[in-house]
Amino acid sequence: MTDELRRLAGAAWAFRARVEREASSRFVRLAAAIPAFDPASPVTDLLRRAADDEDRHATLCAELATAYGCQTGGTAVDVPIAPRSFAARDAVLYEIVAACCITETESVATLATLLTGTAEPRVRMVVHEIARDEVVHGRMGWAHLAREAAVRDVAFLAAWVPSMLEGGLDGAIFAAGERDAAPDDLLRHGVLPRSRKREIFVGTLEEVVFPGLEKLGVAAAPARAWLAERLARRSSPGAGCFGN
Ligand SMILES: [Fe+2]
Ligand SMILES: [Fe+2]
Repeated sequence: MTDELRRLAGAAWAFRARVEREASSRFVRLAAAIPAFDPASPVTDLLRRAADDEDRHATLCAELATAYGCQTGGTAVDVPIAPRSFAARDAVLYEIVAACCITETESVATLATLLTGTAEPRVRMVVHEIARDEVVHGRMGWAHLAREAAVRDVAFLAAWVPSMLEGGLDGAIFAAGERDAAPDDLLRHGVLPRSRKREIFVGTLEEVVFPGLEKLGVAAAPARAWLAERLARRSSPGAGCFGN
């Protein structure tokens, strides 16, 4: 493989290792917060188990990064992502919807795409193991939202879904005019070309995330508008450069 491909693959796996470590810390914190308002929630235990999964994923990703010659390490920073004005219970709901219903669901779709290609055996093994767990982590988020929706009004979240999407977004996927070199080579080493990432991101929102939110009482209209605006900005180069 070329040095450039090796560098890209190493950086992608090192980035994933950091994201996995951050997810672990987030899940530990959220698990500790739920009993204060919902002591009987099964999601607390699921979050603890998920945190262990994320630690394991972080190790697997870091090993791959090292195999591609990229150093990993540094400390994962656990930054609460809910708006500061939110009360504790709303903040937990915001974070679980953002981290699980959206991010984990997107992750499953991304990993499934990598598994359909001809990945290197070691990459394939790691992707397979991670995908299996992320499916469970996504469901855990929907379970928490459903549990909350059953006892209180969760409609307020609708206006915040665009911030969740913006916060977790890899902005590069909406960059105009890009073209990744050698997309098949990238895929083989577990790196999705940006055009594929964008297709997966949009498709997962439209087919899974938005309908899932709507079913549980969170209107998807603001999020749909956000997505339409993002896509429109991309297809008209120059738009968005002035004044916003
Ligand atoms: Fe993970
Ligand atoms: Fe996960």
